Amino acid sequence: MQTQLTKGIHWVGVIDWNLRDFHGYAVRGGSTYNAYLVLDEKTALIDTVKAPFGSELLDKVRAHVPLDRVDYVVCNHAELDHAGALPQVMAACPNATLVCDAKCKDELALHFDISGWRVQVVDCGGAISLGRRTLQFVTTPMVHWPESMVTYIPEDRLLFSMDAFGQHLATTARFDDEVPLDAILEEARRYFANILMPFGRPINRAIDALAALPLDIVAPSHGVIWRKNFAAIVAAYRAWTECRPAPRVLVVYDSMWKSTEAMARAIVEGAGIKGVEAKLLHLRQNAMAEIVNDLLDAPCVALGSPVQNNMVMPQVGALMTYLRGLKPTRKAGFFFGSYGWSRNAAADEVAKFFEAVKFDVVREPLLNQFVPKAECLEACREAGRALAEEALRRAKAADPAN
Ligand code: FEO
Repeated sequence: MQTQLTKGIHWVGVIDWNLRDFHGYAVRGGSTYNAYLVLDEKTALIDTVKAPFGSELLDKVRAHVPLDRVDYVVCNHAELDHAGALPQVMAACPNATLVCDAKCKDELALHFDISGWRVQVVDCGGAISLGRRTLQFVTTPMVHWPESMVTYIPEDRLLFSMDAFGQHLATTARFDDEVPLDAILEEARRYFANILMPFGRPINRAIDALAALPLDIVAPSHGVIWRKNFAAIVAAYRAWTECRPAPRVLVVYDSMWKSTEAMARAIVEGAGIKGVEAKLLHLRQNAMAEIVNDLLDAPCVALGSPVQNNMVMPQVGALMTYLRGLKPTRKAGFFFGSYGWSRNAAADEVAKFFEAVKFDVVREPLLNQFVPKAECLEACREAGRALAEEALRRAKAADPAN
């Protein structure tokens, strides 16, 4: 496995092959926690790893340099997948100074006992000389937490970009030219949708700020390192940050006795017009992370639930909670579902959700008492057709070629 980014700079991270659940986000095939070692007159470790992998990280560092020769440990981000092993690293590297911004120091003090650590606080634009190389720091608040920053080495035109441009991708390949680009972008998109979607504005600000830097290598904290196709991931990020619409309709639902499911199937059938991808997504048969990935650029959604105990079904409630946090933009949709005796119970709940997430409601709820008959199903097909036409309109209006 090639782990040298450029002469004197090495990947010393770990591969978490068995990761399937990243704080609730279903991961398909593991991830990596990337840490990097910069060898110069002084030595710097850029970020650490999740706590259980601390020994593996230290073994990799030790293979390059004795641990008492580590002068700096840079913490770009306090989240525990990157800072979890800091106590172990700081204990094992007696001459190391922790380098982070002021917010990060505060956050780390709320996670660990840092009273015995030497800490150097850096500001945006601050720099530390390692000898032939310089570490320059650029704060990037809310990409992904308030304290987040990135570290740039101008002599190597190399950026340690932290969570930005990362992917939950477990592979022995370390570089983007060793894996098909489509596969990397697919995982980068899934990561963006489930982790970074609420932070579109700060991410765009960060990309604008970084645009001035000459870049040959961009090394994120997860997944492969960009040295060939960085422009492709930047273009993708620009589209994802604005939820740029594609001609796609999602019909997302749960069902008790298949009445709401029959309505969902009729809606997706109607939505399957030329030029539109229409997807039927049962909430207990599809991971929520996958639904959110599909939603990223789907402008139109039909959301369905029967009434259960005067509420929507639990998985529908969970999706609404997840989306309130992720704040997808530029969406339109409507609610549908079967009920027994509480006609508006679920519809009222979903109406509040649509309002909270600023979805454009394109029609009144499609409601049916118990089992839908032919007339109801035809109304569902018609609603699906209209939703697909709306998706086409929105995709066309947002197409940069128009
Ligand atoms: Fe990969 Fe926000 O931590």
